[in-house]
Amino acid sequence: MTPFSSKTLYVHTIGCQMNVYDGEQIARGLAPLGYRLADSLKSADLIVVNTCAIREKAEQKVFSFLGRLAGLKENNPDLIIAVGGCVAQQEGERILSRAPYVDIVFGTRSIDRLPGLLESVAATGRRQVAVAMDGDAFLTPRPPENETRVSGFVTIMQGCDNHCTYCVVPSVRGPETSKPPADILAEVEALTAAGVREVTLLGQNVNSYGRKEGLCAFPELLRMLNDLPGLDRIRFTTSHPKDLSDGLIAAFRDLPKLCNHIHLPIQSGSDRILKRMNRKYTRAVYLDRIDRLRAACPEIAVTSDFIVGFPGETDADFQETLSIIETVGYDSLFAFQYSDRPAAPAARFSDKVPDPVKAARLQQLLDLQKRITLAKHRSLVGRVETVLVDGPAKKQTTGDPDSVPAAAWSGRTAGNKIVNFTLTSHWKPEDVRPGRLIPVRIDAAFPHSLRGRPVDRGLRPSDAKGEKSHAA
Ligand code: 5AD
Ligand code: SF4
Repeated sequence: MTPFSSKTLYVHTIGCQMNVYDGEQIARGLAPLGYRLADSLKSADLIVVNTCAIREKAEQKVFSFLGRLAGLKENNPDLIIAVGGCVAQQEGERILSRAPYVDIVFGTRSIDRLPGLLESVAATGRRQVAVAMDGDAFLTPRPPENETRVSGFVTIMQGCDNHCTYCVVPSVRGPETSKPPADILAEVEALTAAGVREVTLLGQNVNSYGRKEGLCAFPELLRMLNDLPGLDRIRFTTSHPKDLSDGLIAAFRDLPKLCNHIHLPIQSGSDRILKRMNRKYTRAVYLDRIDRLRAACPEIAVTSDFIVGFPGETDADFQETLSIIETVGYDSLFAFQYSDRPAAPAARFSDKVPDPVKAARLQQLLDLQKRITLAKHRSLVGRVETVLVDGPAKKQTTGDPDSVPAAAWSGRTAGNKIVNFTLTSHWKPEDVRPGRLIPVRIDAAFPHSLRGRPVDRGLRPSDAKGEKSHAA
């Protein structure tokens, strides 16, 4: 028996998919110490807060969440609170003075040390801080137990060497490091053995995978994964446009399991701003890559990230951003108001854009994209899309335009669009369940989702692979 036997753990994750992956690994890594997942924050013996520092708002969210924990600690002095992730890395000891009830601060390369840090707290009663960047970039992966999801994440790279001037990632996640292909394959195999059908490979810039270490190139890794039995779909995020190779473009054409979707953050449509951001590509280069992707894979869905109000961004620069959104015709995008990150060079740039101007530009951009997304969704009406079922549809009929009748199923297309559908009489209920690929004819388009019916072609679900072909 360890001193921790039959205790409960609550992991609260803020931020990106990489943090979600870390959160899962933290929970699995603590299971051997007797920690099982708590039903609620209040009932937990250990709370792990997995933090994000990418924008000021995310960091504020961290400290407001930590504020909520003060009362819990007062009511239960035995509660252990551990703070990990990017804010922990960035702030280190300062977290202990800002939130004195925190017991452990562990950085992005110290996750594997958490069990030892817990033991030190138990043995000494003293608070622990571990934020050295010399730890392992990768956790010892732990296979999932009781996996119920259809989709899983695998982090294949850590850190970033690009130093975009607005970005805190290189300072909080360290230099770029790639996980060996054999470890990635083993992790994906463990996921598929547990029932996962779709995997998303995670890294700050997967296009430069393996380059530094002389491992295989990213398209080769994709080829190896494409050959794994039991895996139906492969996705990845994020790609840097400057490193988008012809090999990767060919992979979209050639690999049946690679989903027709690329997330290719551009950040701005203005060459002047791209230069100040240190993005190392121009608008023309980006558009050329999009053309080549579409020539190789006409169905490809393209999504992106944008920052509005970067220091020095004029109205003319912002018009360039709006125009590239129209020119590319993104399927969807994420857009953010620029926020200073003290560790990033742009925090010291002059010509800061006032907040109301940033807010107005963001709204204008989002309004434009809303129109484009709806048009994209409408263009799919009448087509058959292969949908990977992930569970029952969440929304019930409420008058909401995206709502679906009760008992409907939900899943995603290869292009990552949500499709809700209800079974027709041609489909036996036992043929449709999470993890199945079902051909669905789209008959209605909404701002955030599509609705359809499984095709009545006497098709059995097992015939519904062929992610790259869309019979009309
Ligand atoms: N301010 C606003 N947005 C940012 N991003 C990264 N750093 C900042 C910042 N300082 C956005 C970029 C990136 C996404 C993950 O977050 O668009 O692609
Ligand atoms: Fe940040 Fe740029 Fe690296 Fe992305 S590529 S993590 S934006 S520094």
